[in-house]
Amino acid sequence: MQKITFVTGKGGVGKSVVAASLALRKAQQGKSVLLVELGDQSFYADFFNLPNVGYDPINLRENIDLSLWSGATCLREYALHLIKVESLMKLFFENKIMRTFINIAPALPELAIVGKITSGHRQVGPPMHYDEIIVDTYATGHFLALLRAPRGMAEAIKFGPMGDQTRKIQAVLLNPEYTSIELVTLPEELPIVEAQELNEQITKEFGFMPRLWINKCFGKSLAAGLKNQCADVSLEKWKRYLETRTQLEKVASERVGSPTANYIPLIAKINSWEIIEEMAQQMGSV
Ligand SMILES: Nc1ncnc2c1ncn2[C@@H]1O[C@H](COP(=O)(O)OP(=O)(O)O)[C@@H](O)[C@H]1O
Ligand SMILES: [Mg+2]
Repeated sequence: MQKITFVTGKGGVGKSVVAASLALRKAQQGKSVLLVELGDQSFYADFFNLPNVGYDPINLRENIDLSLWSGATCLREYALHLIKVESLMKLFFENKIMRTFINIAPALPELAIVGKITSGHRQVGPPMHYDEIIVDTYATGHFLALLRAPRGMAEAIKFGPMGDQTRKIQAVLLNPEYTSIELVTLPEELPIVEAQELNEQITKEFGFMPRLWINKCFGKSLAAGLKNQCADVSLEKWKRYLETRTQLEKVASERVGSPTANYIPLIAKINSWEIIEEMAQQMGSV
């Protein structure tokens, strides 16, 4: 049973590194993993110094492949699939459907992406023989648009193969047995507020709760060490910052409204793989 994991959170909180670390954790457990990033630009290409990250998977490391999927590339594959299901002529030239299409068109790239993500489950399109699909998704608002895309389309198109397909996509996407959401935040005011809103929205609209990750934590020992250093140079502001931040670490999960808190420490490494390896280790038995 293929698992689909979405990683989301505010911009810059560590979504991409958390997604890569989750991928490594699963790979170390012997699972075959497809790590997917969404958009036109690859973050991992720079981060891991890779020459060509694109639609077709490349091997990143033992048990991990990497793909970059954009709305346009997924749409192309989806259109090809539609032609096979029903003549494109009929679909596009029936007036009523055409109108509906135009009305819901803004969600089309998102629909194509979630269509691709769930294609393994639905057994359509090119085979995706992975145990785990880990998706480094968008920040808050765009992420909600991604989850909402099939519902909007299914409501707009009640009949025909396209309506059926969107309902199937929806069924996989919103089944907590297949899908999970990892919500990343920092122990800082703005990311916490944004995470709280997103957590509430996802729970209300889709009926399942994300798992919360509080990233770049100082923890007690690091904070104490830094505080001692600060005492020497009496940097009052820095001391207050440390106190606020470590306090926020403690209350973050409660403020977000999450029943559990998963902490990831601030990792003092420069090398990309060293960061990911240490982070994966700190994640324990996820
Ligand atoms: N726990 C951590 N320790 C050290 N550096 C981190 C940690 N989490 C994230 N980073 C660094 O912070 C930056 C932002 O992380 P990134 O995953 O790109 O965020 P996002 O994908 O949410 O925009 C990256 O340079 C990453 O290496
Ligand atoms: Mg990112």
